[in-house]
Amino acid sequence: MSTKQGRLSSKTAIITGAASGIGKGTALLFAEEGANLILVDISEDKLNEVAAEIRELGGSCEVVCGSVGLMKTAEEAVALAVSTYGKLDILFNNAGIMPVGDILDYAEETWDQVLQVNLKSMFLMCKKAIPEMLKANGGSIINTSSVMANLTEPGYTAYSASKAGIIGLTKEIAVSYTEKGIRCNSIAPGWVETDMNVKLADSMGGMDKLYPIIKQQQPLGRMATTREVAYAVLFLASDESIVVSGSHLAIDGAASAAI
Ligand SMILES: NC(=O)c1ccc[n+]([C@@H]2O[C@H](COP(=O)([O-])OP(=O)(O)OC[C@H]3O[C@@H](n4cnc5c(N)ncnc54)[C@H](O)[C@@H]3O)[C@@H](O)[C@H]2O)c1
Repeated sequence: MSTKQGRLSSKTAIITGAASGIGKGTALLFAEEGANLILVDISEDKLNEVAAEIRELGGSCEVVCGSVGLMKTAEEAVALAVSTYGKLDILFNNAGIMPVGDILDYAEETWDQVLQVNLKSMFLMCKKAIPEMLKANGGSIINTSSVMANLTEPGYTAYSASKAGIIGLTKEIAVSYTEKGIRCNSIAPGWVETDMNVKLADSMGGMDKLYPIIKQQQPLGRMATTREVAYAVLFLASDESIVVSGSHLAIDGAASAAI
């Protein structure tokens, strides 16, 4: 793939939730910047479509179809990175789900599922990725949290808890491994144009119902595009952010600065 600036040339990256939204947008940008990719998602058809798009553009990628909540998926993704590209430099833990509901109606199984997909997945992936990053003399881990880790509203019981947990896990990995060359940061997107918000709008009766809320909450006045979020992830993944570790980066059009 013809690179723009080659900001990730010779790097190997795993991206989870790569079949759509922020993960897909980041996969396309990383490929343009010269990275070799392992794309992970539970949605097989969409994952293969993204892989085909990247290969058509001249990029290099392999896919792992499975749930990020399972150790087997983490093992497979890291092993594939090493067997195909010889090393692992970047891990973008991004897959997530957002079932909403009041705590009194919220099923215990749904709570467990959200914590498993949104938070435990990152523990599993990091457990398998860090030893390979140590062999490669360093790496960058980026975990997708959310503006809803710190600011929430009724109904986001498990989602907000999982996204707040990601901040703690990120800081712990950063203090344990930065000295060894592995940086770890979390990102906190606000409203982003993805399927997750299309589903939310559908549950509210359409985008017309959701958009006034977005305009009120996010001073930018619109949703971010996945490409705009991907540029922030690219910065954290690349060596340009070599002294940035343990940070929690707002990518939210000033949503978290507003009263
Ligand atoms: N869209 C937003 O406004 C927004 C805001 C803040 C944070 N986020 C976070 O960004 C991340 C990406 O979300 P998105 O908005 O791009 O949504 P999305 O629904 O477009 O993408 C999420 C991807 O994760 C995959 N996925 C879901 N469960 C999985 C599992 N068990 N194993 C593997 N893959 C799985 C889905 O198949 C999908 O491809 C999530 O962690 C989400 O919480 C999104």
